[in-house]
Amino acid sequence: MFSINENFLKLPGSYLFSEIAARVSAYRKAYPDKEIIRLGIGDVTQPLAPEIIKELHAAVDEMGNSKTFRGYAPDLGYAFLRGAIADQDYRQRGCDISAEEIFISDGAKCDSGNIQEIFGTDNIIAVCDPVYPVYVDTNVMAGRTGDYDPESGTFSGVIYMPCTKENGFVPEFPDRDPDIIYLCVPNNPTGTTLTIDQIQKWVDYANEIGAVIIYDAAYEAYITEDDVPHTIYQCRGARNCAIELRSFSKNAGFTGLRLGFTVVPKDIKAGETSLHSLWARRHGTKYNGAPYIVQRAGLACYTPEGRTQIREQVAYYMRNAGIIKEGLKGAGYEVFGGVNAPYIWLKTPGKMNSWEFFDYLLHKANIVGTPGSGFGPSGEGYFRLTAFGTFENTCKAMDRIRTLG
Ligand SMILES: Cc1ncc(COP(=O)(O)O)c(C=O)c1O
Repeated sequence: MFSINENFLKLPGSYLFSEIAARVSAYRKAYPDKEIIRLGIGDVTQPLAPEIIKELHAAVDEMGNSKTFRGYAPDLGYAFLRGAIADQDYRQRGCDISAEEIFISDGAKCDSGNIQEIFGTDNIIAVCDPVYPVYVDTNVMAGRTGDYDPESGTFSGVIYMPCTKENGFVPEFPDRDPDIIYLCVPNNPTGTTLTIDQIQKWVDYANEIGAVIIYDAAYEAYITEDDVPHTIYQCRGARNCAIELRSFSKNAGFTGLRLGFTVVPKDIKAGETSLHSLWARRHGTKYNGAPYIVQRAGLACYTPEGRTQIREQVAYYMRNAGIIKEGLKGAGYEVFGGVNAPYIWLKTPGKMNSWEFFDYLLHKANIVGTPGSGFGPSGEGYFRLTAFGTFENTCKAMDRIRTLG
């Protein structure tokens, strides 16, 4: 008789987005003629840039020709894409990262969930609170945590590092040493970021205690301020302790196309064993490579025209972010983020908790956002709006909020 991986039973279920869907659908049923604006889920709305579409078409045509047809992609990614990434995302920023240290994948969600497989099950993880839920849930599945406590909204055995307005959303070093530290910079959900000096301190700390940093830079393209690094490898010593995750989802609209990559420097070692060799082994065994046509589309993001076009798309969303931020501020809200990230994190007014504010906004302004408490206990009393809507809807949403009074 088979048995199951009981660790899965520790997970409380993905309450957040199913509860949002249920409340929105109940509201729709009751008020079918109301026009709802969705500024909740972090999905893009703009179509793929023309250069990307051009490259996709060309690659599709190649697949229909016996001379240029491609079968399985190399497990770790095509050299043309790994080379472009190493060159433009790293070497041109003065970072010593080679193409061999880049592993192409179908996105940062899978990589951020899978990367824990190469670590011992007794490793202690540290996460920011609030947090992108994938980091914790995948460690729960792997048995690296204790049970969930519904009272505190936390798993035992996990180090939570609160990030609130009181500490400027900057995680503090925990009072016991973790083995794996997850950092998401710029941050989802708070939309805030860390400066290069702040990240350097985490790199020094990780090297001192022998920990690894899993650095999720899915929102790198949204950085506007000079003191925010575009990669953790701009910090001294990061080659010895940091794995970086990147995605094409938010910089180039690949949420439906699927492409990402992970950088594992060869210098991160446990004794004689490099994490690079373990991740290569894992990737080669469990993954058969991102599709050729999608990797060609990824390459389009590194051509001069493609770069310009995807930058314009990011600017479109950041204009929305500015409108939301200023609109909320004008309406008297306390607002964070939205400068180096497409997320705006606001303090719920008065004594309203995150879900109460969700209902308030849905009923009074027909706007859907995401309750901060869904990302962790320190998210209670906060709310997330995203800049990924259309410009028109974003402006309309802010007009509605302004007239709420
Ligand atoms: C912090 C963070 N990492 C990773 C992802 C997933 O990226 P991808 O679409 O590449 O899987 C997201 C998506 O919302 C995210 O917010």
